[in-house]
Amino acid sequence: MPSFPDVLGLAMQQTISKSYPDAELSWYNPPPPFSLKVAACVVAQIVHRIWFHPLAKVPGPVKYSVSYLPFLLQNYYRGVFFRKTPDLIQKYGPMIRVGPNHIMLDGEIAWPQVFSRRKANEAEFEKLPLTFAAKACSLIFAPHDIHRRQRRQLSHAFSDASLAQQEAVVQEYIDLLLDRLQTHAENGEFLDAVKWMNACTFDIIGDLTLSESFSSLENNTVHPLITLIFDSIEQFSRRRLYANYPRIRTILSCFSDEIGVKQHAARSGSKERARARMKLGEEGPAGRKDFMTYMLRKTRDGQIGMEAEEILESSPTIILAGSETTASALSALWFYLSNHPEAYKRLTEEIRSSFSSEKEISFQTCTHLEYLVATVNEILRIFPPAAETPARVSPGAFIEGIYIPPGAS
Ligand code: HEM
Repeated sequence: MPSFPDVLGLAMQQTISKSYPDAELSWYNPPPPFSLKVAACVVAQIVHRIWFHPLAKVPGPVKYSVSYLPFLLQNYYRGVFFRKTPDLIQKYGPMIRVGPNHIMLDGEIAWPQVFSRRKANEAEFEKLPLTFAAKACSLIFAPHDIHRRQRRQLSHAFSDASLAQQEAVVQEYIDLLLDRLQTHAENGEFLDAVKWMNACTFDIIGDLTLSESFSSLENNTVHPLITLIFDSIEQFSRRRLYANYPRIRTILSCFSDEIGVKQHAARSGSKERARARMKLGEEGPAGRKDFMTYMLRKTRDGQIGMEAEEILESSPTIILAGSETTASALSALWFYLSNHPEAYKRLTEEIRSSFSSEKEISFQTCTHLEYLVATVNEILRIFPPAAETPARVSPGAFIEGIYIPPGAS
């Protein structure tokens, strides 16, 4: 249907041609229909993205330059994009355009130029905005100024002195895990290594963070909150997709909490545990320092180090960051060792020849085992538990001599 000015134009044309049948009326050409205008805009945008966009100089498959959707679907919905990266790097090099405004970098470029500390006069690459509602910033999503303060506060939890204190807690759960595995072996039962590794690492991180284990090993079953946390990881990933289409997200979120910005039950559950621990004060119930101790501590000049809401937002992040990642790496370690008997033999020989009793095995003594350290490093290389380092947003900066405009990620 023609729009209002088109109707006027056509009416004038008809009136004039009735009165002056021989008149030349080529001065009025009705505008193209709406669909043609849309098609022209789309074509113009495609041309701009492929040839004239600031990221046009970055090599990559044309489909990724034209639309962000293929990458988003493969990465955040189907979780398969990481499998394509070796081939893409082979073909296009260490800097690849994977969306109209999105590039993927090899670590060799990304670590020094994006993730590491920038010069005093250079703006930082900030993290992508959150995909869920939060009252304060959690450590992993905080912008640089807040992050620096939080990091300073929590870094004491990872000092050598703190690690020495934490070792006894870790040992306790490793002993329990070995007991459970032994029972399975004696009964000739198959076991789900991924489940047991997660049971163990969540128990450890629960204890180290809040002095409260999930007790999965003790109860011989995975705590329900852990199952929920796994569900929340998938949801978080899918929400990264919807975050790029806020209008569609708003509409779809009317039908499902999966899609909106409402916090997942796993996050609220972990926050409840953190809230209960906070009430017990700095020293906590176990007579030793846990991560909460350090988060609750005042700074040297008596200021609050982390706000209560920041602690509540950070606790679920720490629980997840320290457990599922480690469990995935350990599961991969068992998988690859069982498929490479020669490596398994060499590793067991190294361990057995280095210690005369289990008691001698410690954080400190293990670092001297060359083959063990090499095995762990190799696992992290071939099976990185975090397949993607969270993206950063450009403040407007040059990477490999190419200008990456503000907002590009
Ligand atoms: C194989 C094991 C692990 C892997 C692969 C891993 C991987 C990662 C990655 C990729 C990030 C995001 C970095 C970024 O955005 O720049 C991260 C952050 C973090 N991880 Fe780990 N992690 C592991 C183990 C742990 C453990 C055992 C803990 C705690 C006990 C931990 C605590 C954290 C924390 C607190 C952060 C946020 C740091 C910050 O933003 O300052 N991670 N980790």
